[in-house]
Amino acid sequence: MKILLVSSSARGHAIAEALMRSRHKPRLVALSPNDNVGIAKIAEYHQAVDIMDFSKVLSIAQEHKPDFALIGPDDPIGGGLADALEEIGIPCIAPRKSLARIESSKAFARELMHKNGIESYPKFMAFQRADPELMNAFVERCDGEFVVKYDALKGGKGVKVSGEHFQKREEGIAYAEECIAECGTVVLEEKLVGVEFSLMSFVSGTSVVDMPAVQDHKRAYEGDTGPNTGGMGTYSCVDHALPFLTNADLAEAKRINRSIAQALIKECGHPYRGILYGGFIAVRDGVRVIEYNARFGDPEALNVLPILESDFVDLCLGMIEGSIDDGMARFQKKATVCKYVTPASYPSAKLEVGKPIDIPKGDTTNARVYLGDVSQDSHGRLLLGGSRSIGVVGIGSTLEEAEEIAQKMCSGIQGPVRFRRDIGTQTLIQKRIDTMQSLRN
Ligand code: GLY
Repeated sequence: MKILLVSSSARGHAIAEALMRSRHKPRLVALSPNDNVGIAKIAEYHQAVDIMDFSKVLSIAQEHKPDFALIGPDDPIGGGLADALEEIGIPCIAPRKSLARIESSKAFARELMHKNGIESYPKFMAFQRADPELMNAFVERCDGEFVVKYDALKGGKGVKVSGEHFQKREEGIAYAEECIAECGTVVLEEKLVGVEFSLMSFVSGTSVVDMPAVQDHKRAYEGDTGPNTGGMGTYSCVDHALPFLTNADLAEAKRINRSIAQALIKECGHPYRGILYGGFIAVRDGVRVIEYNARFGDPEALNVLPILESDFVDLCLGMIEGSIDDGMARFQKKATVCKYVTPASYPSAKLEVGKPIDIPKGDTTNARVYLGDVSQDSHGRLLLGGSRSIGVVGIGSTLEEAEEIAQKMCSGIQGPVRFRRDIGTQTLIQKRIDTMQSLRN
């Protein structure tokens, strides 16, 4: 069994590790935009290449002839790498370009929901030309609280929210006009109030198998303050639910993922094969979709993959063959807490690039260390890049235990780094529970 993994970051390391646990003992051919020290240690072949250079990726794929490919990041998925690989006979765990519009086009995602009666979306309106009068009228309908979404992939920086990224309505409208000038379309949406969570599912056509629900923390600093980041950490619970959600909320999110998979086949004429990531918000009266992604979340993948008991390669083969069921994706009844260790000045500056860090050796039975934006020098020392450096995951029989493990591991890392101590703590989780209680009341 040979697998081509096109990935990057600590998420790629977690995917590689999950594949390598398989009874198939796969040989891994891994391509990443930078040398990934973690993946390089376990892959048979690892090369740093521009993963958007599809002809390069295809020529490496043709040379190695993998049984299938798994594509991690949004850009190559949104750009159609799965279509290109499938054309040369390599099945992919990643949707084709038309299906990946569920992530790469915010207007497509909303219109798909609207057309198919999947009603869990906020008020929205897509614009192809700047029309300040109509835009203002829409913002009025949202009581002045609105979200502006760039209609293409923008490295997680395309969405701007009133009260967070802009204060005045005119600033939001000006950004909307910029979006139209750059990518042709902008989506304006009502701003929702509630608590966000992620529900990822393995999808093969209309077969959908859910992973444990996870909560991400986007803000850079403790207490959910500071600028947004790619995600500073995540947690998941023993029961695979989240303490601020009702059973009905989670069931609704699961139902929506299924409806989306069905709507995508109907719309695009091909089955979706890969990971469908629903970004949801629990609100006063249920759940709404914030956005969809066509891939594993980062860090969410770092929570769920280490506790996947089933054989990940069998699961991938099932997705390719079009037959998966709940029995093929069993997860340990464990809690997980992931904390990203980042350079101390992340995300604003890159002052620590090239500085060495040291990860002490310790008991890693219930901990995982996934290497992200770090390189290795000729002495074997790990050096910081400018982005998220190391995803540290604690696994426990309770959330408290998982948090303690992650916290201890992160605290032991030497160098100019930081992490959010509050992620996965009872205090922060209680805040989410209180927010939802007061909204529901
Ligand atoms: N955790 C956010 C993302 O993967 O997009």
